[in-house]
Order: sequence, then C-alpha cells, then structure tokens
Amino acid sequence: MAESPLDRLLELSCTEIERRAALAAPSPSPFDSGASAFRSALGSASTVPVPKRTVPVTQHLAGIGDSVLALAVHEAAPELSWVASPRTTDGGRDVALAPINDIRDLGSLTCGLMLLAPNAVYPEHSHPPQEIYLPIAGGGSWRYGGQANFRMLADDALVYNNPGDIHSVVADDEPLLALYILWP
Ligand SMILES: [Fe+2]
Repeated sequence: MAESPLDRLLELSCTEIERRAALAAPSPSPFDSGASAFRSALGSASTVPVPKRTVPVTQHLAGIGDSVLALAVHEAAPELSWVASPRTTDGGRDVALAPINDIRDLGSLTCGLMLLAPNAVYPEHSHPPQEIYLPIAGGGSWRYGGQANFRMLADDALVYNNPGDIHSVVADDEPLLALYILWP
C-alpha cells in the first residue's frame, strides 16, 4: 500500500526524534528509548478508519510555517482528526489534539499532535507513561522533566517527562504545534 501523507509525517517525526536524541547528552537517554519505541510502533502500524473531526483552533494551522515537518502536517491534514483536549473545557477553541491512535494502530505507544492558539495554555497534568514532545512549530514556555519552573527550549530540543512528572506548556504569540509520544 502506498505511503500516505500521514505515514510520511510520522516517519519524518520519528527520524527527527532520532536525530535530536543523538544530539542529547547523556547517551543513551530516554529520547533514544522513545525513538526506538516509536520506530517499532510505526513498523506495525495499521490504518483504522475514523470519521474526520475538527475544532476551531485548527484555523491556526495556517500559521505554523513551512519547515519540512510543518509542510508534512499540511499534507497530512486531510487524514487528521482534531478533537478538544480532555484536559480543557474550551471545546477546542484554543487547544486541540489530533490523536494518531484513532487512525493508526500503534500498539502500546500513544501518539498525537497538540495544537495551541497563540498565548494558549496546555494545563498542567501528569500521567504514568513517560512522554516525549517533538516541537514542530511555534515557541513557548514549557514545564517538564520534573522541574517546577517554565523554560524556553533550545533549538532542536526535545521535551522529556518522566512517569508522573507534572508538565505543561504556554504558547508565545504564535501557534504552537508539537507531536507527542507516550510509551510504557
Ligand atoms: Fe502529557
């Protein structure tokens, strides 16, 4: 079966996590573990049909720029299904998720895209699985990695959350788009 734009987006994202993981110290790091889990899940991903949904914040996808990954997101847009985050009450006005598990069987790995409107906040939360965010577009201030403060990220940085770490992100004055993976 021909690779779809969504498959290409996932492949590019996994390759980018692998590349950024190779830049991270110390090595091996949880980034390597996450990249390996993601690569393995993609190797056996099958397509799950789902009705396409959308929410108001997706209007901001027009402002995510033209990086290789951003262009891949634009191309995959017809396959993505956006929903309001269960951690917000805004009905998808400022925050939304595109859960990839709704459209690809990724086994025990959870993957999705997170989109924030300019200046929007993804609420502080925690969960048992560890997590990596791959920032795709936009800047912001992140709470992550067991730290209590919010920090800007270096270029090419990945975000890692240990199991149970409280984490959050606040977008700056541009829309913020990131891909996330959670794995056991
Ligand atoms: Fe999370």
